[in-house]
Amino acid sequence: MNNKYQLVKQKIEDLKSEIEYHNNLYYNEDKNEISDLEFDKKLSYLIELEKKYPEFKTSDSPSERVGGKITKKFETKNHKIPMLSLSNTYSESELFDFDKRMKKRLSNNDIEYTCEIKYDGVALSLIYENRKLKYALTRGDGKKGDNITTNVYTIRSIPLKLSSIAPSYMEIRGEVFISKSNFKKLNDYKKNSNEPLFANARNAASGSLKLQDSSEVAKRKLDCYIYSLNSKFESVKDHNEALKTLKNLNFNVPNSFKKCKNIEEVISYIKYWENKRENLDVETDGIVIKVNNFKQQEELGFTSKNPRWAIAYKYKSESAETTLKDITYQVGRTGAITPVAKLKPIKLSGSVIRKASLHNFNEIKRLDLRIGDTISIEKGGEIIPKITGVNIDKRSNISKSVKFITHCPSCNSPISKIKNEANYYCRNHKYCLPQIIGKVQHFIGKDAVNIEFLGPETIKGLIDNDLIKNIADLYKLKYHDLYDLKIEFKNSNDERKIRSLKEKSCRNIINSISQSKNSNYSNILFGLGIRYVGKSTAEVLSEHFNNIKKLIDAKYDEIIQINEIGDKIAKSICEFFKDNDNISIVSKLEKNGLKLYSKKKINIDSSIKNIKFVITGTFINYTRDELKNIIKINGGKISSSISKNTDFLILGKNFGPSKKSKAANLGIKIISENDFENLLLT
Ligand code: IVH
Repeated sequence: MNNKYQLVKQKIEDLKSEIEYHNNLYYNEDKNEISDLEFDKKLSYLIELEKKYPEFKTSDSPSERVGGKITKKFETKNHKIPMLSLSNTYSESELFDFDKRMKKRLSNNDIEYTCEIKYDGVALSLIYENRKLKYALTRGDGKKGDNITTNVYTIRSIPLKLSSIAPSYMEIRGEVFISKSNFKKLNDYKKNSNEPLFANARNAASGSLKLQDSSEVAKRKLDCYIYSLNSKFESVKDHNEALKTLKNLNFNVPNSFKKCKNIEEVISYIKYWENKRENLDVETDGIVIKVNNFKQQEELGFTSKNPRWAIAYKYKSESAETTLKDITYQVGRTGAITPVAKLKPIKLSGSVIRKASLHNFNEIKRLDLRIGDTISIEKGGEIIPKITGVNIDKRSNISKSVKFITHCPSCNSPISKIKNEANYYCRNHKYCLPQIIGKVQHFIGKDAVNIEFLGPETIKGLIDNDLIKNIADLYKLKYHDLYDLKIEFKNSNDERKIRSLKEKSCRNIINSISQSKNSNYSNILFGLGIRYVGKSTAEVLSEHFNNIKKLIDAKYDEIIQINEIGDKIAKSICEFFKDNDNISIVSKLEKNGLKLYSKKKINIDSSIKNIKFVITGTFINYTRDELKNIIKINGGKISSSISKNTDFLILGKNFGPSKKSKAANLGIKIISENDFENLLLT
């Protein structure tokens, strides 16, 4: 190997260790020594070197963490040690029984326990061979699981390589989860993209692990808490030591585990975490109690389903009883009808609950709900409280069975089912008020054209006053149309009140509508609200058809050719553009200045690679985010402040004067939006 070649190999090795060092610091120890930007720079450099010298790329490289591999079907693999489950209890007295059983079987009164929190996610087995992550398997049926290794590479807190103190073969188990905060972000995104929401964080974690595209998994920001060592490790004699050793090997073991001398200490631990667990950023459902000593664990052994040496104490999810006052029906943007249970208000987990979602009509049948029933509601990890059952003993003979509606509660059109869907739909899509309001709300949403200061009540006010009938009409609105507009709303006591739009709100709305004309093509396309066309599908479509005219003219056969687009979406697109009213809305949007075509073609190998930009002010052809994106995609760098390392300052309208003078002082080139476009084309 010549000298340069040797140096490249060494550089790759150094970058790998450095990146994994900072990665572990950040994800497992909550610390950082370098900025995110510096971290990204190192990772990009590593990826670039590995691309140029693929012979030096190894499977334990941190570049694997960004994903990119596609798995069509996950192969299954046998577990060397079956993945069992734990026996459960909800009562303290059963814990005393458990303790007695242990003492009797071991004929020893000296038993220590280790307690850990029970994380509510998905079980994972990790196999390391020669200190490298070789396989990651799901629990599956306990005997064999799915090989999801490529997806697990993207979980940043799981080490891909272990230090030399680790034995050559190791099996580790843990729980993959998505934090409460990331779960909320994920569902917010899904909501904006018109995709079905995950009911809870556990479903989100398990769905994410099974995605076929690992770069999508990387975006889900999964994490994994480690709870057991399932292979021999010299000098580790008990579970408590095992957890400490795993922590030293850079596994993500939370600090909450505790060695308890007796069952009384176990109970104090359970009490300690009962309320405190609510403050953790991970869903939890109990405490796992394990006999600490490995020899004693071995002596106790397993039943066919569970280890005898461990038990899970489950916290009862908070529940309450209240009365079902009524069932009302909501009509969504697509016409889907959702039954909503109106409840006698009741306090649960710190908030007052007035309603619970019933998802669809089948749920009412399944629970045999009757108006006036005493029902139990529960709030676990679910976002909306759910009705878990009916207290039949308390059913009075005046309780009324639920009469299913046959017509839309808003416009009275007949409702009907769509094949293979549980919901009923109102098909009066053009004139049913909640559907129109929903469509406008969708169009003005953050991921669409982002018009602010317009709530559903104001939209209703605009429709009631004949000021708008559809999304295109928003662009006809003038200040004097809005001024003093009467808006009906409900106050916190559910009473109807009227307010009128004041000067400032009117100005804000008009400005925001005007700014929305700069929205990019794919956001507007998403905003049109074509059924099943979420944000990412809109992006795919806008890349494929760089002008809406081409999409309008496209036949089903052409649309279905696109990789990410299936039959359901293709049909829905054709149907949407078959409707002349939709075509007329599109053309009105265009007449009002919305650009339904792709701007500049992006030039990947452009001349701005690694050039450092600072931008200031507002631009004519791009929003600031678009401009930043174009710079990034073309390999340029953006920073928020001017330094001697800056190459260009792009000056827009209403620029920051201090940036301009600092750039001038440092002799940095100041360019306009036009100059930037020319730069891109060189
Ligand atoms: S120990 C024999 N510790 O709960 C299984 N499990 O029903 C030994 N879990 O499948 C597992 N947190 O996925 C253990 N601190 C913890 C845990 C934990 C969550 C899950 C695990 C297991 C299930 C048991």
